[in-house]
Amino acid sequence: MGISQLISQTVGFPTVRLRRLRMTEQFRKMVAETQLSVNDLIYPLFVCPGQNVKREVRSMPGVYQQSIDNLIHDCEQIYKLGIPAVILFGIPEHKDEYGSEAYDENGIIQRAVRALKKEIPELVVITDVCLCEYTSHGHCGIVKEVAPGKYEIANDETVELLAKEALSHAEAGADMVAPSDMMDGRVAAIRKILDENGFQNIPIMAYSAKYASGFYGPFREAAESAPKFGDRKSHQMDPANSDEAIREVALDILEGADIVMVKPALAYLDVIYRVKQEFKVPVAAYQVSGEYSMIKAAALNGWIDEQRIMLETLTAIKRAGADLILTYFAKDVARILT
Ligand code: PBG
Repeated sequence: MGISQLISQTVGFPTVRLRRLRMTEQFRKMVAETQLSVNDLIYPLFVCPGQNVKREVRSMPGVYQQSIDNLIHDCEQIYKLGIPAVILFGIPEHKDEYGSEAYDENGIIQRAVRALKKEIPELVVITDVCLCEYTSHGHCGIVKEVAPGKYEIANDETVELLAKEALSHAEAGADMVAPSDMMDGRVAAIRKILDENGFQNIPIMAYSAKYASGFYGPFREAAESAPKFGDRKSHQMDPANSDEAIREVALDILEGADIVMVKPALAYLDVIYRVKQEFKVPVAAYQVSGEYSMIKAAALNGWIDEQRIMLETLTAIKRAGADLILTYFAKDVARILT
C-alpha cells in the first residue's frame, strides 16, 4: 500500500477538512499546483504580402492577416508583453502545385523572418514548415495521381521539399523550425539538411501527434489553406488513437526532435499527459483555431466568461503536462500574468 492510500484510509473527516486550504485567496494561491507563466507562451501569427495590411479573420476575432510592416509593430508589442516566441504562418503571393514559395528565399516567410530578426533580434521566431499554405490544391505535399481519379500525397518527394523549406527558413534567420505536415521521416530529413549546412544548433519543434481535426476550420480561413478536394486523413492522425501518438512521438525524438507537440490541445489532454509521462521531454500543445473561436463565439454571445474560460483551459493544458502552449490568447494571458 502506498503512503497516500494509507493516510486516506486511516485519517479522515473531521480531522481532515480539505476546504481549510480553499477558504482564502491567499491559501489557494499558496497551494496551487499549476502555474501558467508568460514564458510558456508561443503566439501564432499570419503574415501576408503588401503594405499596411491588417485584415481580421472573420472566424477568429482579434486575429489578423498582416503585412510585414504591421507584423513588426505587433511583434514589438508582443515582445514588450514578455512573450518569448512567435510562430509564423505565411500567405504567399502565388500558389502552385509544388508550393514553390515555401522554399523561395524571397518568399513571404523568409522576408518576414529577416525583417523581424533585424528589428527585434531577441524575439524567438519559429516558422511553421508545411506546404499547404503554398500549394494551389491546398494539400500538405505533392499530389500524385496513382490511378485514374485516385490521388495520393507522395511522402518522400514531399519530405525533400519540406527539408528545403526548413533550410530556407534557417537561412533567413529563423530560431526554430516546426514541421506540421505529418509526413513520415520529415524530422530526420530536416535535421540532416540543417546539420549539413551549419545549422546544428537550430532546434526542431515537431508537430508529432497532430490529429485530423475539425478544430482547424478557422485556421484554414486565416491561412487560406483549405484543401480543394479530399482531406488530410492520409497523414494526420485518427482522433481514436493514442498508442499511435506515442509511436509518432518516439520516432520524432529518435529522428532529432527537440520539442514534441500535441495538437489540438483540449480534446487531447490525455495524449499530452501520456506523452509527458512517457518521454519527459519538452512538450508543446497547440490550442488551435477552433478552440479559440469557440470560446470567442460563446463569449460574444454573453454565454460564458471569456477570461475565465481562457485561463481555465490553458491551466488544464499545462496541468496535463504541456511545457509550452501555442495560443491565439497569448497577448491576453500575458496582460493578466504580467
Ligand atoms: C498546417 C497547419 C495547420 C495548423 C497549423 N499548421 C492546419 C492544418 O493542418 O490544416 C492549424 C492551426 C490551427 O487550427 O490553429 N500548416
